[in-house]
Amino acid sequence: MNILITGGAGYIGSCATLKIIKNYKSHCIILDKQETINLTKLIQSYNKNLTFYKVDLTNYHQLKEIFQDISNKFKIDVIIHFAAYTIVSESEANPYKYFHNNINSTLNLLELMIHYEIPHIIFSSSASVYGKANYIPINESHPLNPLSAYALSKKISEDLIIKYSQKGINYINLRYFNPAGSIDNLGEEHNPETHLIPLLVKSLIEGKTFRIFGNDFPTKDGTCIRDFIHIQDLVVSHLISLEHLLTGKVINETFNVGINKGYSVLEVVQKSLEIFKNKINPHFKYIFDKRREGDVPILLADSQKIQEMMNFKPNYDLEDILYSVWNYEMEKISL
Ligand SMILES: NC(=O)c1ccc[n+]([C@@H]2O[C@H](COP(=O)([O-])OP(=O)(O)OC[C@H]3O[C@@H](n4cnc5c(N)ncnc54)[C@H](O)[C@@H]3O)[C@@H](O)[C@H]2O)c1
Repeated sequence: MNILITGGAGYIGSCATLKIIKNYKSHCIILDKQETINLTKLIQSYNKNLTFYKVDLTNYHQLKEIFQDISNKFKIDVIIHFAAYTIVSESEANPYKYFHNNINSTLNLLELMIHYEIPHIIFSSSASVYGKANYIPINESHPLNPLSAYALSKKISEDLIIKYSQKGINYINLRYFNPAGSIDNLGEEHNPETHLIPLLVKSLIEGKTFRIFGNDFPTKDGTCIRDFIHIQDLVVSHLISLEHLLTGKVINETFNVGINKGYSVLEVVQKSLEIFKNKINPHFKYIFDKRREGDVPILLADSQKIQEMMNFKPNYDLEDILYSVWNYEMEKISL
């Protein structure tokens, strides 16, 4: 099986590539516009199973040349499309950057899928498409109300994929809630990092002040509630999607991927203080800061659909996530 992975140098894409190579006798072709530490590690370990093309997916002509080159060497069975810009606040400051990148990348891919007869796509969507929830937990039929340019770029990408399904492309859209954690030596390396758990763990280790954005949300302790899913589980949801899509058991469906359990930001901080108590740098402290633009009070998944239709069951909880990030960060320090 040959799998084309866009954004495979990034956090989730590299972790998925690792698992796919380990689980299947597959060849992964990564398309990404940057070379990252995660990509270097993948290539070091799995050179034989990997081909990397450095390309900006918004450049249709260059992308087409690459598809031509790939089609001379491999028959692509499926695309997993992770590539996107992902920082909500940046998307609000610069919506053009996000619309141009995220929408055009998806459109170019879809057009070339038709041209090169690649039948299947799994798309990385996001719970942000729901906006401020009308009810909790959020199921897939919850109305979509994307509040940021990032979220809107995800919704439009979903719409494009649905439109192209009329031309014969089969898809599965996965709406991730809050992925976190690491797999082996691969972890979150966003620049800048805006995600709670890597920022918190780094602050605990380095003895920095950690800022909690907003303690006046309508939640039990005033801080935001999120559904954190371990990257191990998230990646498994892709493997399961691959199997169902390729065998035709499930096509043209959208699924939430979360664990149906919410933790407030303050609870995550308290859980970390409890489990790492003897190891925390004594200079660590946390403070409350004002809300960040675009943060909604609660994002909590109803993931019954993916459980029922594809038998997906998450195996890890918040503690596992925190330990894996702690170990990942400590390993970086020891190198
Ligand atoms: N991390 C999360 O919390 C989260 C939550 C919901 C959805 N998602 C979605 O999951 C996907 C992966 O997220 P991530 O956290 O791994 O992000 P990431 O930034 O670590 O990885 C994204 C990768 O895409 C590449 N990329 C972006 N635009 C490109 C382009 N035009 N051409 C080629 N490569 C391009 C980047 O270079 C990067 O390596 C994204 O689509 C994101 O929207 C992530």
